[in-house]
Amino acid sequence: MQRINASIGFDRKLAAEDIAGSKAHATMLAAVGILTREDADAILGGLDRVADEIAQGTFVFKTELEDIHMNVEARLAELIGEPAGRLHTARSRNDQVATDFKLWVRGAFVRLDGDLKALQVALLDQAEAHADAVMPGFTHLQLAQPVTFGHHLLAYVEMFGRDRDRVLAGLARSDECPLGAAALAGSPFPIDRQATAKALGFARPTANSMDSVSDRDFALDYLASCAIAAVHVSRLAEELVLWTSDQFRFVKLPDAWTTGSSIMPQKRNPDAAELARGKTGRVLGALQALLVTLKGLPLTYSKDMQEDKEPVFETEETMALVLAAMTGMIRDLTPDRDALRTAAGKGYATATDLADWLVRELNLPFRKAHHVTGTLVKLAESKGVPLDQLTLGELKSVESGINQGVYSVLSIDASVGSRASYGGTSPERVRQAVIAARSRFL
Ligand code: ARG
Repeated sequence: MQRINASIGFDRKLAAEDIAGSKAHATMLAAVGILTREDADAILGGLDRVADEIAQGTFVFKTELEDIHMNVEARLAELIGEPAGRLHTARSRNDQVATDFKLWVRGAFVRLDGDLKALQVALLDQAEAHADAVMPGFTHLQLAQPVTFGHHLLAYVEMFGRDRDRVLAGLARSDECPLGAAALAGSPFPIDRQATAKALGFARPTANSMDSVSDRDFALDYLASCAIAAVHVSRLAEELVLWTSDQFRFVKLPDAWTTGSSIMPQKRNPDAAELARGKTGRVLGALQALLVTLKGLPLTYSKDMQEDKEPVFETEETMALVLAAMTGMIRDLTPDRDALRTAAGKGYATATDLADWLVRELNLPFRKAHHVTGTLVKLAESKGVPLDQLTLGELKSVESGINQGVYSVLSIDASVGSRASYGGTSPERVRQAVIAARSRFL
């Protein structure tokens, strides 16, 4: 029974929140006259000593005391005697654990926001430095149109910005304090829930005592925010894996972020990026685990809910690790600007620019222009040259109206430079977007 029942092995992580919750509760009990001032002072002083013991590492966590709540209270009783037994008046472990865990998750939200912001800073610095580095943009992983490296990185700044929005929304939704809901029905004592909510940094108490002890939406919000952010990290990690490969050679990671092979001396494997991608599986699994744990539970508290903590604690550690590694890799990578430019010039990436020119200058319908361009790409392909090396005569053989002016759009720099629409990839736009993103996010 003890082995399946005890949670102290992991919920000791809630010690600081548990002590803060108990101090707020004791202070409130004294303020409304349920506890004498002397008892409350003894409790507050004792809780500080417990906190010290935990901080010093001298506190003995006991499995037979099941969880952090009972461990703290039992030690308090050893330290101060009888008044310790009065602390649990007008509360239950059900509202206590909901409060502790919610406080912890709120801290985790704030840490996640900071880690996401640090990654945005690294991306923005690289985007600024390489606002004009042309590279291939892909659809279907086939070369599509030239873009800039800065523009590509700014796409991730947007993703992590939305992740931070979700974090803020999660914080706003978790701003209600469950303490005082007691076991499930509320308390017959004249408690002041506004006071405890305020003391613990919540905006207000929760409105329904049954919901208070059954609700773990704050943990789901946290895991869902992490899951989406982890998917973004994973996509970026996948790009690093591709970009650092011999086939691409777009980016160099310093040795500090790669590993060698025990048998192949030439290898520089992007293990940190692969692990950032790989660990996403755990994060997605944690969200799924908690959703499934909660889905069949009748109101109110069931012990199943003790299973809420480990997925959240593990996810917090994983996210901190993965975001730190990703931030370091982005900060320390060097794009190979020449290789990026060469790759952008392959594969007829300016074909769309040619079609657009035919529409703009010769007033061809876009479908016709698309067809003419397709014929010219085939011609260039058969001659083994890029589009801008077809002669004017060759161009005219397919569409007689084409003139010298077309060459101004066939180069990759012209292509990238022309895409100056809001949100577009022209270097000038990208520089503006970096400035705008800094003021939106930092
Ligand atoms: N260790 C429990 C948990 O984490 C605390 C709440 C216990 N409540 C109860 N009625 N047994 O959920």
